[in-house]
Amino acid sequence: MTFHDAVVYQIYPKSFRDSDGDGVGDLRGIIDKVPYIASLGVDYVWFNPFYPSPGHDNGYDISDYCAVDPAMGTMEDFDELAATLGAHGISPMLDMVLNHVSTEHEWFRRALAGEQRYRDYFYIRPARADGAAPTHLPTNWVSKFGGPAWAPFGPVDDDGRPLSGEYYLHLFDPTQADLDWHNPEVRARAAEVVNFWRAHGVRAFRFDVINLIGKTEPLADAPAGTDDRRVYTDGPLVHDYLHELNRASFGQDPDSVTVGEMSSTSIEACVGYTAPERQELAMVFNFHHLKVDYENGEKWTLMAPDIPELKRLLNDWTLGLQAGGGWNALFWNNHDQPRALNRFGDAGRHRYESATMLATAIHLLRGTPYVYMGEEIGMTDPLYTSIEDYVDVEARNAFHALVDAGRPPEEAFAIVHSKARDNARTPMQWDDGEHAGFSDVEPWLRPTNQAEINVAAEEAGGRILPYYKRLIALRKELPVISEGLYEPWELDDPDVLGYLRTHAPGGGEPGARLLVLCSFRDHDTEVRVPADLAAGRVLITNYPDRRPESYAERPLGPTVRLAPYEALALIVTSPDTL
Ligand code: NOJ
Ligand code: MG
Repeated sequence: MTFHDAVVYQIYPKSFRDSDGDGVGDLRGIIDKVPYIASLGVDYVWFNPFYPSPGHDNGYDISDYCAVDPAMGTMEDFDELAATLGAHGISPMLDMVLNHVSTEHEWFRRALAGEQRYRDYFYIRPARADGAAPTHLPTNWVSKFGGPAWAPFGPVDDDGRPLSGEYYLHLFDPTQADLDWHNPEVRARAAEVVNFWRAHGVRAFRFDVINLIGKTEPLADAPAGTDDRRVYTDGPLVHDYLHELNRASFGQDPDSVTVGEMSSTSIEACVGYTAPERQELAMVFNFHHLKVDYENGEKWTLMAPDIPELKRLLNDWTLGLQAGGGWNALFWNNHDQPRALNRFGDAGRHRYESATMLATAIHLLRGTPYVYMGEEIGMTDPLYTSIEDYVDVEARNAFHALVDAGRPPEEAFAIVHSKARDNARTPMQWDDGEHAGFSDVEPWLRPTNQAEINVAAEEAGGRILPYYKRLIALRKELPVISEGLYEPWELDDPDVLGYLRTHAPGGGEPGARLLVLCSFRDHDTEVRVPADLAAGRVLITNYPDRRPESYAERPLGPTVRLAPYEALALIVTSPDTL
Protein backbone atom coordinates (compact mmCIF):
# COMPACT_ATOMS: atom_id res chain seq x y z
CA MET A 1 0.00 0.00 0.00
CA THR A 2 1.31 3.37 -0.90
CA PHE A 3 0.80 4.80 2.52
CA HIS A 4 2.35 1.99 4.60
CA ASP A 5 5.88 3.23 4.05
CA ALA A 6 4.87 6.89 3.91
CA VAL A 7 5.44 9.62 6.47
CA VAL A 8 3.25 12.70 6.67
CA TYR A 9 4.45 16.12 7.79
CA GLN A 10 1.82 18.45 9.23
CA ILE A 11 1.94 22.19 8.65
CA TYR A 12 -0.21 24.72 10.45
CA PRO A 13 -0.07 27.35 7.70
CA LYS A 14 -0.79 30.25 10.00
CA SER A 15 2.42 29.50 11.88
CA PHE A 16 4.91 28.09 9.38
CA ARG A 17 6.37 31.10 7.57
CA ASP A 18 5.06 34.60 6.91
CA SER A 19 6.27 35.85 3.51
CA ASP A 20 4.41 39.17 3.32
CA GLY A 21 5.07 40.73 6.70
CA ASP A 22 1.60 40.66 8.23
CA GLY A 23 2.60 38.41 11.12
CA VAL A 24 0.51 35.52 9.79
CA GLY A 25 1.90 32.54 7.91
CA ASP A 26 0.93 32.12 4.26
CA LEU A 27 1.23 29.80 1.27
CA ARG A 28 4.15 31.68 -0.30
CA GLY A 29 5.98 31.30 2.98
CA ILE A 30 5.52 27.55 2.71
CA ILE A 31 6.76 27.60 -0.90
CA ASP A 32 9.98 29.21 0.33
CA LYS A 33 10.47 26.36 2.75
CA VAL A 34 9.80 23.44 0.41
CA PRO A 35 13.53 22.54 0.24
CA TYR A 36 13.50 22.13 4.03
CA ILE A 37 10.35 19.98 3.91
CA ALA A 38 11.90 17.85 1.15
CA SER A 39 15.08 17.42 3.19
CA LEU A 40 13.05 15.53 5.80
CA GLY A 41 12.21 12.75 3.34
CA VAL A 42 8.45 12.92 3.92
CA ASP A 43 5.84 11.92 1.34
CA TYR A 44 2.79 14.03 2.20
CA VAL A 45 2.19 17.39 3.79
CA TRP A 46 -1.09 17.80 5.61
CA PHE A 47 -2.09 21.46 5.65
CA ASN A 48 -4.52 22.69 8.25
CA PRO A 49 -7.29 24.79 6.65
CA PHE A 50 -6.23 27.80 4.60
CA TYR A 51 -9.68 28.54 3.15
CA PRO A 52 -11.65 31.77 3.69
CA SER A 53 -12.78 31.88 7.29
CA PRO A 54 -13.79 34.46 9.87
CA GLY A 55 -11.21 32.74 12.06
CA HIS A 56 -13.22 32.05 15.19
CA ASP A 57 -11.62 28.60 15.33
CA ASN A 58 -8.49 29.39 13.37
CA GLY A 59 -9.77 28.28 9.99
CA TYR A 60 -11.96 25.37 11.09
CA ASP A 61 -14.93 27.70 10.62
CA ILE A 62 -14.91 27.76 6.83
CA SER A 63 -16.95 30.28 4.86
CA ASP A 64 -15.88 29.02 1.41
CA TYR A 65 -14.57 25.51 0.87
CA CYS A 66 -13.30 26.13 -2.64
CA ALA A 67 -11.04 29.15 -2.30
CA VAL A 68 -7.93 30.35 -0.50
CA ASP A 69 -8.17 32.85 2.35
CA PRO A 70 -6.71 36.14 1.04
CA ALA A 71 -4.54 36.37 4.18
CA MET A 72 -2.96 33.04 3.16
CA GLY A 73 -2.58 33.73 -0.56
CA THR A 74 -4.35 32.88 -3.79
CA MET A 75 -5.40 29.80 -5.71
CA GLU A 76 -2.38 30.35 -7.98
CA ASP A 77 -0.18 30.22 -4.88
CA PHE A 78 -1.76 26.93 -3.93
CA ASP A 79 -1.20 25.46 -7.39
CA GLU A 80 2.41 26.62 -7.28
CA LEU A 81 2.88 25.14 -3.83
CA ALA A 82 1.44 21.80 -4.96
CA ALA A 83 3.67 21.81 -8.05
CA THR A 84 6.77 22.73 -6.04
CA LEU A 85 6.10 19.94 -3.57
CA GLY A 86 5.32 17.60 -6.45
CA ALA A 87 8.73 18.27 -7.99
CA HIS A 88 10.16 16.71 -4.82
CA GLY A 89 7.78 13.76 -4.90
CA ILE A 90 5.64 15.20 -2.09
CA SER A 91 1.84 15.40 -2.22
CA PRO A 92 -0.35 17.89 -0.40
CA MET A 93 -2.98 16.48 1.96
CA LEU A 94 -5.87 18.89 2.43
CA ASP A 95 -8.05 19.32 5.47
CA MET A 96 -11.75 18.76 4.75
CA VAL A 97 -13.94 20.21 7.48
CA LEU A 98 -17.29 18.82 6.44
CA ASN A 99 -19.05 18.19 9.74
CA HIS A 100 -19.74 21.89 10.13
CA VAL A 101 -19.51 25.16 8.31
CA SER A 102 -19.02 28.77 9.36
CA THR A 103 -22.21 30.64 10.15
CA GLU A 104 -20.88 33.14 7.60
CA HIS A 105 -20.95 30.54 4.84
CA GLU A 106 -23.51 31.25 2.13
CA TRP A 107 -25.46 28.10 3.05
CA PHE A 108 -26.07 29.24 6.61
CA ARG A 109 -26.82 32.79 5.54
CA ARG A 110 -29.43 31.57 3.09
CA ALA A 111 -30.91 29.36 5.81
CA LEU A 112 -31.15 32.42 8.06
CA ALA A 113 -32.84 34.29 5.24
CA GLY A 114 -35.53 31.62 5.34
CA GLU A 115 -34.73 29.54 2.26
CA GLN A 116 -36.08 26.08 3.05
CA ARG A 117 -33.55 24.35 0.84
CA TYR A 118 -30.71 25.69 3.01
CA ARG A 119 -32.54 25.31 6.32
CA ASP A 120 -32.46 21.62 5.45
CA TYR A 121 -28.67 21.71 5.41
CA PHE A 122 -28.58 22.26 9.19
CA TYR A 123 -30.02 20.93 12.42
CA ILE A 124 -32.56 23.63 13.19
CA ARG A 125 -34.97 22.60 15.92
CA PRO A 126 -37.75 24.35 17.88
CA ALA A 127 -37.32 25.18 21.54
CA ARG A 128 -38.93 22.63 23.81
CA ALA A 129 -42.35 23.82 24.83
CA ASP A 130 -42.04 22.34 28.31
CA GLY A 131 -38.74 23.75 29.31
CA ALA A 132 -37.42 26.45 31.53
CA ALA A 133 -33.77 27.38 30.84
CA PRO A 134 -31.69 25.45 30.00
CA THR A 135 -34.13 22.62 29.29
CA HIS A 136 -35.86 24.60 26.57
CA LEU A 137 -32.93 23.68 24.31
CA PRO A 138 -33.65 20.87 21.83
CA THR A 139 -31.24 18.47 23.57
CA ASN A 140 -28.95 18.56 26.59
CA TRP A 141 -25.77 18.23 24.50
CA VAL A 142 -22.69 20.23 25.41
CA SER A 143 -20.38 21.97 22.93
CA LYS A 144 -16.84 20.65 22.81
CA PHE A 145 -15.67 24.19 23.45
CA GLY A 146 -17.89 24.58 26.52
CA GLY A 147 -21.52 25.69 27.03
CA PRO A 148 -24.62 24.26 25.34
CA ALA A 149 -24.39 22.82 21.81
CA TRP A 150 -27.42 24.84 20.64
CA ALA A 151 -27.52 28.55 19.78
CA PRO A 152 -30.49 30.78 18.91
CA PHE A 153 -31.31 30.70 15.22
CA GLY A 154 -31.58 34.35 14.22
CA PRO A 155 -32.19 37.47 16.35
CA VAL A 156 -32.92 37.13 20.07
CA ASP A 157 -35.20 38.87 22.57
CA ASP A 158 -34.11 40.62 25.78
CA ASP A 159 -33.82 37.27 27.54
CA GLY A 160 -31.58 35.89 24.82
CA ARG A 161 -34.35 33.65 23.43
CA PRO A 162 -34.56 33.40 19.63
CA LEU A 163 -37.45 35.35 18.12
CA SER A 164 -37.79 32.44 15.68
CA GLY A 165 -38.29 30.05 18.61
CA GLU A 166 -35.56 27.89 17.02
CA TYR A 167 -32.02 26.78 17.76
CA TYR A 168 -29.27 25.33 15.57
CA LEU A 169 -26.79 22.68 16.54
CA HIS A 170 -23.08 23.45 16.92
CA LEU A 171 -20.95 20.73 18.48
CA PHE A 172 -18.06 23.23 18.43
CA ASP A 173 -18.14 27.04 18.54
CA PRO A 174 -21.51 28.78 17.92
CA THR A 175 -19.95 30.08 14.69
CA GLN A 176 -19.54 26.46 13.45
CA ALA A 177 -22.99 25.13 12.51
CA ASP A 178 -23.26 21.34 12.12
CA LEU A 179 -24.31 20.18 8.66
CA ASP A 180 -27.12 17.64 8.47
CA TRP A 181 -25.64 14.75 6.53
CA HIS A 182 -28.99 12.95 6.45
CA ASN A 183 -29.79 15.35 3.64
CA PRO A 184 -28.54 13.75 0.38
CA GLU A 185 -27.90 17.20 -1.04
CA VAL A 186 -25.46 17.95 1.79
CA ARG A 187 -23.63 14.71 1.03
CA ALA A 188 -23.48 15.61 -2.65
CA ARG A 189 -22.12 19.05 -1.75
CA ALA A 190 -19.44 17.45 0.42
CA ALA A 191 -18.33 15.26 -2.49
CA GLU A 192 -18.27 18.34 -4.73
CA VAL A 193 -15.85 20.01 -2.33
CA VAL A 194 -13.50 17.03 -2.41
CA ASN A 195 -13.82 16.86 -6.20
CA PHE A 196 -13.00 20.54 -6.54
CA TRP A 197 -9.63 19.89 -4.91
CA ARG A 198 -9.13 16.66 -6.86
CA ALA A 199 -9.45 18.80 -9.97
CA HIS A 200 -6.49 20.78 -8.59
CA GLY A 201 -4.51 17.56 -8.48
CA VAL A 202 -4.98 16.83 -4.77
CA ARG A 203 -5.00 13.13 -3.93
CA ALA A 204 -4.74 13.12 -0.15
CA PHE A 205 -7.31 14.35 2.35
CA ARG A 206 -7.72 14.60 6.09
CA PHE A 207 -11.34 14.63 7.28
CA ASP A 208 -12.03 16.68 10.37
CA VAL A 209 -14.10 15.06 13.19
CA ILE A 210 -15.66 12.89 10.53
CA ASN A 211 -17.16 10.31 12.91
CA LEU A 212 -19.68 12.96 13.99
CA ILE A 213 -21.49 13.09 10.63
CA GLY A 214 -23.84 10.17 11.31
CA LYS A 215 -25.98 11.49 14.14
CA THR A 216 -28.86 9.25 15.09
CA GLU A 217 -32.30 10.74 14.43
CA PRO A 218 -34.31 11.84 16.23
CA LEU A 219 -31.67 13.78 18.12
CA ALA A 220 -32.22 12.77 21.72
CA ASP A 221 -31.03 13.77 25.16
CA ALA A 222 -28.13 11.90 26.65
CA PRO A 223 -29.52 10.12 29.72
CA ALA A 224 -28.78 12.14 32.87
CA GLY A 225 -25.29 11.53 34.19
CA THR A 226 -24.02 9.94 30.96
CA ASP A 227 -21.62 11.24 28.37
CA ASP A 228 -23.53 12.95 25.55
CA ARG A 229 -20.77 12.14 23.05
CA ARG A 230 -22.08 8.59 22.84
CA VAL A 231 -25.31 9.88 21.33
CA TYR A 232 -23.76 11.53 18.28
CA THR A 233 -20.40 9.78 17.78
CA ASP A 234 -19.63 6.74 15.58
CA GLY A 235 -23.27 6.22 14.62
CA PRO A 236 -23.81 3.43 12.06
CA LEU A 237 -24.55 5.99 9.36
CA VAL A 238 -20.96 7.28 9.49
CA HIS A 239 -19.86 4.14 7.65
CA ASP A 240 -22.56 4.53 5.00
CA TYR A 241 -21.76 8.18 4.42
CA LEU A 242 -18.01 7.60 4.24
CA HIS A 243 -18.46 4.79 1.75
CA GLU A 244 -20.71 7.01 -0.34
CA LEU A 245 -18.18 9.88 -0.21
CA ASN A 246 -15.37 7.49 -1.13
CA ARG A 247 -17.25 6.26 -4.22
CA ALA A 248 -18.31 9.76 -5.25
CA SER A 249 -14.88 11.36 -4.90
CA PHE A 250 -11.40 10.31 -3.70
CA GLY A 251 -12.08 6.57 -4.09
CA GLN A 252 -11.96 7.12 -7.84
CA ASP A 253 -8.22 7.81 -7.63
CA PRO A 254 -6.20 4.63 -7.18
CA ASP A 255 -3.46 6.65 -5.46
CA SER A 256 -5.70 8.48 -2.98
CA VAL A 257 -4.72 8.58 0.69
CA THR A 258 -7.17 9.60 3.38
CA VAL A 259 -7.17 9.95 7.12
CA GLY A 260 -10.19 10.51 9.29
CA GLU A 261 -10.01 12.35 12.56
CA MET A 262 -12.08 10.25 14.94
CA SER A 263 -13.23 11.89 18.10
CA SER A 264 -13.92 9.64 21.15
CA THR A 265 -13.97 6.53 19.01
CA SER A 266 -13.50 2.77 19.40
CA ILE A 267 -11.18 0.16 17.91
CA GLU A 268 -14.15 -1.63 16.41
CA ALA A 269 -15.44 1.48 14.66
CA CYS A 270 -11.95 2.29 13.35
CA VAL A 271 -11.47 -1.19 11.92
CA GLY A 272 -14.68 -0.52 10.02
CA TYR A 273 -13.51 2.89 8.81
CA THR A 274 -10.18 1.56 7.50
CA ALA A 275 -10.46 -2.10 6.44
CA PRO A 276 -9.70 -1.66 2.70
CA GLU A 277 -12.54 -3.84 1.43
CA ARG A 278 -15.09 -1.49 3.01
CA GLN A 279 -13.96 1.42 0.84
CA GLU A 280 -14.26 4.08 3.52
CA LEU A 281 -10.92 5.64 4.54
CA ALA A 282 -7.25 4.64 4.48
CA MET A 283 -6.45 5.38 8.12
CA VAL A 284 -7.63 7.06 11.30
CA PHE A 285 -6.46 9.31 14.07
CA ASN A 286 -7.70 8.44 17.52
CA PHE A 287 -6.89 10.31 20.70
CA HIS A 288 -7.12 7.82 23.53
CA HIS A 289 -3.36 7.70 24.06
CA LEU A 290 -3.33 11.49 24.43
CA LYS A 291 -5.78 11.45 27.32
CA VAL A 292 -3.58 9.54 29.78
CA ASP A 293 -2.87 12.82 31.56
CA TYR A 294 -6.55 13.75 31.88
CA GLU A 295 -7.70 13.24 35.45
CA ASN A 296 -10.96 11.26 35.33
CA GLY A 297 -11.10 11.90 31.60
CA GLU A 298 -11.22 15.67 32.16
CA LYS A 299 -8.87 17.65 29.93
CA TRP A 300 -8.59 20.76 32.09
CA THR A 301 -6.75 19.10 34.96
CA LEU A 302 -3.11 18.69 35.94
CA MET A 303 -1.91 15.13 36.03
CA ALA A 304 1.31 13.24 35.34
CA PRO A 305 0.83 10.84 32.41
CA ASP A 306 -0.09 7.27 33.26
CA ILE A 307 2.60 5.45 31.25
CA PRO A 308 1.30 1.89 31.79
CA GLU A 309 -2.07 3.08 30.51
CA LEU A 310 -0.39 4.74 27.54
CA LYS A 311 1.34 1.45 26.71
CA ARG A 312 -1.86 -0.51 27.10
CA LEU A 313 -3.68 1.80 24.70
CA LEU A 314 -0.94 1.77 22.06
CA ASN A 315 -0.84 -2.01 22.31
CA ASP A 316 -4.60 -2.56 22.21
CA TRP A 317 -5.06 -0.25 19.26
CA THR A 318 -2.18 -1.72 17.31
CA LEU A 319 -3.28 -5.30 17.93
CA GLY A 320 -6.94 -4.48 17.33
CA LEU A 321 -6.39 -2.73 14.01
CA GLN A 322 -3.96 -5.42 12.90
CA ALA A 323 -6.44 -8.19 13.71
CA GLY A 324 -9.23 -6.43 11.82
CA GLY A 325 -7.09 -5.43 8.83
CA GLY A 326 -7.39 -1.72 9.65
CA TRP A 327 -4.67 0.94 9.65
CA ASN A 328 -3.71 3.57 12.19
CA ALA A 329 -2.23 7.05 11.85
CA LEU A 330 0.59 7.37 14.41
CA PHE A 331 1.19 10.69 16.11
CA TRP A 332 2.15 12.40 19.33
CA ASN A 333 1.56 15.98 18.25
CA ASN A 334 -0.79 18.07 16.22
CA HIS A 335 -2.24 21.56 16.27
CA ASP A 336 -4.72 20.58 19.01
CA GLN A 337 -2.28 19.08 21.49
CA PRO A 338 0.30 20.52 23.82
CA ARG A 339 3.78 19.33 22.81
CA ALA A 340 4.31 15.65 23.64
CA LEU A 341 7.84 16.47 24.72
CA ASN A 342 6.42 18.48 27.64
CA ARG A 343 3.85 15.82 28.50
CA PHE A 344 5.71 12.53 28.17
CA GLY A 345 9.35 13.56 28.14
CA ASP A 346 11.69 15.96 29.89
CA ALA A 347 11.78 19.13 27.82
CA GLY A 348 14.58 20.53 29.99
CA ARG A 349 17.40 18.18 30.99
CA HIS A 350 16.62 15.39 28.52
CA ARG A 351 15.18 17.25 25.56
CA TYR A 352 17.23 15.39 22.93
CA GLU A 353 16.80 11.98 24.56
CA SER A 354 13.08 12.24 25.17
CA ALA A 355 12.29 13.84 21.78
CA THR A 356 14.11 11.03 19.94
CA MET A 357 12.71 8.30 22.19
CA LEU A 358 9.16 9.47 21.52
CA ALA A 359 9.84 9.58 17.80
CA THR A 360 11.26 6.05 17.83
CA ALA A 361 8.25 4.73 19.71
CA ILE A 362 5.83 5.60 16.92
CA HIS A 363 7.99 5.59 13.78
CA LEU A 364 8.80 1.90 14.10
CA LEU A 365 5.22 0.92 14.95
CA ARG A 366 2.57 -0.50 12.62
CA GLY A 367 0.75 2.45 11.02
CA THR A 368 1.62 5.68 9.23
CA PRO A 369 3.62 8.23 11.25
CA TYR A 370 2.82 11.94 11.25
CA VAL A 371 5.34 14.61 12.24
CA TYR A 372 3.91 17.93 13.39
CA MET A 373 6.01 20.95 12.38
CA GLY A 374 8.69 21.74 14.92
CA GLU A 375 8.56 18.29 16.48
CA GLU A 376 11.56 17.31 14.35
CA ILE A 377 13.67 20.01 16.06
CA GLY A 378 12.36 19.32 19.54
CA MET A 379 10.13 22.38 19.90
CA THR A 380 8.49 22.72 23.30
CA ASP A 381 5.44 24.46 24.76
CA PRO A 382 5.97 28.24 24.89
CA LEU A 383 7.02 29.79 28.18
CA TYR A 384 3.93 31.95 28.56
CA THR A 385 3.10 33.65 31.84
CA SER A 386 -0.33 35.19 31.34
CA ILE A 387 -3.69 34.13 29.88
CA GLU A 388 -3.38 37.19 27.63
CA ASP A 389 -0.62 35.35 25.73
CA TYR A 390 -3.19 32.83 24.50
CA VAL A 391 -5.38 33.42 21.46
CA ASP A 392 -7.35 30.19 21.19
CA VAL A 393 -11.06 30.37 22.00
CA GLU A 394 -10.89 27.00 23.75
CA ALA A 395 -8.07 28.06 26.11
CA ARG A 396 -9.72 31.34 26.98
CA ASN A 397 -13.10 29.72 27.60
CA ALA A 398 -11.47 27.06 29.77
CA PHE A 399 -9.59 29.62 31.85
CA HIS A 400 -12.73 31.60 32.59
CA ALA A 401 -14.74 28.45 33.30
CA LEU A 402 -12.11 27.29 35.80
CA VAL A 403 -12.04 30.67 37.52
CA ASP A 404 -15.84 30.83 37.58
CA ALA A 405 -15.83 27.40 39.19
CA GLY A 406 -13.74 28.83 42.02
CA ARG A 407 -10.19 27.92 41.03
CA PRO A 408 -7.59 30.54 41.97
CA PRO A 409 -6.39 32.27 38.78
CA GLU A 410 -2.81 30.92 39.19
CA GLU A 411 -4.10 27.39 39.34
CA ALA A 412 -6.42 27.95 36.37
CA PHE A 413 -3.49 29.38 34.46
CA ALA A 414 -1.24 26.42 35.29
CA ILE A 415 -3.86 24.06 33.92
CA VAL A 416 -4.39 26.03 30.73
CA HIS A 417 -0.63 26.39 30.35
CA SER A 418 -0.23 22.62 30.32
CA LYS A 419 -3.13 21.75 28.02
CA ALA A 420 -3.74 24.66 25.63
CA ARG A 421 -3.79 24.06 21.89
CA ASP A 422 -1.77 27.24 21.36
CA ASN A 423 1.19 25.31 22.82
CA ALA A 424 1.53 23.70 19.41
CA ARG A 425 0.51 26.70 17.35
CA THR A 426 3.41 29.03 18.10
CA PRO A 427 5.42 29.98 15.01
CA MET A 428 7.92 27.54 13.57
CA GLN A 429 11.32 28.49 14.96
CA TRP A 430 13.61 28.85 11.96
CA ASP A 431 16.38 30.80 13.64
CA ASP A 432 17.22 32.65 16.85
CA GLY A 433 16.02 36.05 15.58
CA GLU A 434 13.52 38.27 17.36
CA HIS A 435 10.65 36.69 15.45
CA ALA A 436 12.25 33.28 15.09
CA GLY A 437 12.78 33.70 11.34
CA PHE A 438 9.03 33.24 10.98
CA SER A 439 8.23 36.84 10.13
CA ASP A 440 9.75 40.30 9.97
CA VAL A 441 7.07 41.63 12.29
CA GLU A 442 5.43 40.62 15.56
CA PRO A 443 3.82 37.20 14.91
CA TRP A 444 0.14 36.55 15.66
CA LEU A 445 1.25 34.20 18.45
CA ARG A 446 4.47 34.77 20.33
CA PRO A 447 7.45 32.37 20.18
CA THR A 448 9.51 32.24 23.38
CA ASN A 449 12.56 29.99 23.20
CA GLN A 450 13.88 30.32 19.67
CA ALA A 451 17.29 31.31 21.06
CA GLU A 452 17.84 27.70 22.14
CA ILE A 453 15.58 25.76 19.77
CA ASN A 454 15.57 26.49 16.04
CA VAL A 455 16.06 24.88 12.64
CA ALA A 456 19.34 26.70 11.89
CA ALA A 457 20.92 25.35 15.09
CA GLU A 458 19.65 21.84 14.44
CA GLU A 459 20.92 21.89 10.87
CA ALA A 460 24.29 23.16 12.04
CA GLY A 461 24.90 20.38 14.52
CA GLY A 462 21.77 19.34 16.38
CA ARG A 463 20.93 15.72 17.03
CA ILE A 464 17.12 15.61 16.87
CA LEU A 465 16.63 16.58 13.21
CA PRO A 466 19.10 13.98 11.83
CA TYR A 467 17.50 11.34 14.01
CA TYR A 468 14.06 12.07 12.55
CA LYS A 469 15.46 11.91 9.02
CA ARG A 470 16.97 8.52 9.78
CA LEU A 471 13.69 7.19 11.17
CA ILE A 472 11.79 8.44 8.14
CA ALA A 473 14.31 6.78 5.80
CA LEU A 474 14.25 3.49 7.71
CA ARG A 475 10.54 3.03 7.10
CA LYS A 476 11.22 3.09 3.36
CA GLU A 477 14.23 0.79 3.60
CA LEU A 478 12.76 -1.97 5.72
CA PRO A 479 9.48 -3.75 4.98
CA VAL A 480 9.54 -5.15 8.51
CA ILE A 481 8.75 -1.59 9.63
CA SER A 482 6.21 -0.69 6.97
CA GLU A 483 4.48 -4.07 6.65
CA GLY A 484 5.67 -6.23 9.55
CA LEU A 485 3.41 -7.75 12.14
CA TYR A 486 3.27 -6.31 15.64
CA GLU A 487 3.66 -8.17 18.94
CA PRO A 488 3.96 -6.62 22.37
CA TRP A 489 7.13 -7.17 24.40
CA GLU A 490 7.23 -6.88 28.21
CA LEU A 491 3.91 -5.11 28.36
CA ASP A 492 3.92 -5.29 32.15
CA ASP A 493 7.15 -3.33 32.54
CA PRO A 494 6.02 0.00 33.98
CA ASP A 495 8.91 2.02 32.54
CA VAL A 496 9.53 0.69 29.08
CA LEU A 497 7.46 0.49 25.93
CA GLY A 498 8.62 -2.63 24.13
CA TYR A 499 7.41 -4.30 20.97
CA LEU A 500 8.49 -6.70 18.26
CA ARG A 501 7.93 -6.44 14.55
CA THR A 502 8.24 -9.55 12.44
CA HIS A 503 8.11 -9.89 8.71
CA ALA A 504 4.63 -10.44 7.36
CA PRO A 505 4.13 -13.31 4.92
CA GLY A 506 4.96 -12.02 1.47
CA GLY A 507 6.35 -8.82 2.98
CA GLY A 508 10.06 -9.16 2.04
CA GLU A 509 13.00 -9.90 4.36
CA PRO A 510 12.06 -13.42 5.42
CA GLY A 511 12.95 -13.97 9.03
CA ALA A 512 13.48 -10.31 9.89
CA ARG A 513 12.68 -9.46 13.49
CA LEU A 514 12.91 -6.09 15.09
CA LEU A 515 12.81 -5.30 18.80
CA VAL A 516 11.99 -1.75 19.88
CA LEU A 517 12.61 -0.62 23.46
CA CYS A 518 11.73 2.88 24.63
CA SER A 519 12.28 4.02 28.19
CA PHE A 520 9.84 6.62 29.47
CA ARG A 521 11.91 7.21 32.62
CA ASP A 522 14.56 9.74 33.60
CA HIS A 523 16.61 7.09 35.38
CA ASP A 524 18.27 3.83 34.35
CA THR A 525 16.00 0.84 33.98
CA GLU A 526 16.35 -2.79 32.95
CA VAL A 527 14.30 -4.76 30.51
CA ARG A 528 14.47 -8.34 29.19
CA VAL A 529 15.64 -9.04 25.66
CA PRO A 530 14.37 -12.03 23.63
CA ALA A 531 17.12 -14.62 23.13
CA ASP A 532 17.27 -14.39 19.34
CA LEU A 533 17.67 -10.61 19.42
CA ALA A 534 20.41 -10.52 22.05
CA ALA A 535 22.98 -10.81 19.25
CA GLY A 536 21.17 -8.37 17.00
CA ARG A 537 22.38 -5.39 15.03
CA VAL A 538 21.61 -1.96 16.45
CA LEU A 539 19.24 -0.45 13.92
CA ILE A 540 18.93 2.87 15.69
CA THR A 541 19.50 4.28 19.18
CA ASN A 542 19.57 7.73 20.71
CA TYR A 543 22.67 6.74 22.74
CA PRO A 544 24.99 5.81 19.84
CA ASP A 545 28.14 6.41 21.88
CA ARG A 546 27.14 3.74 24.36
CA ARG A 547 26.05 1.08 21.90
CA PRO A 548 28.11 -0.99 19.47
CA GLU A 549 26.89 -1.38 15.89
CA SER A 550 26.02 -4.97 16.64
CA TYR A 551 25.87 -7.37 19.56
CA ALA A 552 26.91 -10.32 17.36
CA GLU A 553 30.32 -10.55 19.02
CA ARG A 554 29.16 -10.00 22.57
CA PRO A 555 25.47 -10.85 22.90
CA LEU A 556 23.42 -9.02 25.49
CA GLY A 557 22.50 -10.85 28.69
CA PRO A 558 18.92 -11.76 29.36
CA THR A 559 18.38 -8.08 30.19
CA VAL A 560 19.61 -4.75 28.88
CA ARG A 561 20.07 -1.66 31.00
CA LEU A 562 18.53 1.42 29.39
CA ALA A 563 19.68 4.97 30.10
CA PRO A 564 17.18 7.80 30.76
CA TYR A 565 14.74 8.06 27.84
CA GLU A 566 16.82 5.65 25.83
CA ALA A 567 15.44 4.23 22.59
CA LEU A 568 17.07 1.08 21.28
CA ALA A 569 16.02 -0.92 18.23
CA LEU A 570 17.72 -4.27 17.54
CA ILE A 571 17.21 -6.23 14.35
CA VAL A 572 18.02 -9.75 13.20
CA THR A 573 17.49 -11.25 9.78
CA SER A 574 17.28 -14.98 9.27
CA PRO A 575 20.62 -16.70 8.55
CA ASP A 576 19.48 -17.93 5.14
CA THR A 577 19.00 -14.36 3.92
CA LEU A 578 22.40 -13.13 5.14
C1 NOJ B 1 -10.68 19.19 15.05
C2 NOJ B 1 -9.64 20.17 14.66
O1 NOJ B 1 -8.40 19.51 14.65
C3 NOJ B 1 -9.72 21.31 15.64
O2 NOJ B 1 -8.63 22.18 15.51
C4 NOJ B 1 -11.03 21.99 15.44
O3 NOJ B 1 -11.21 22.97 16.43
C5 NOJ B 1 -12.20 21.02 15.53
N1 NOJ B 1 -11.95 19.80 14.83
C6 NOJ B 1 -13.43 21.61 14.95
O4 NOJ B 1 -13.29 21.72 13.55
MG1 MG C 1 1.57 36.57 5.86
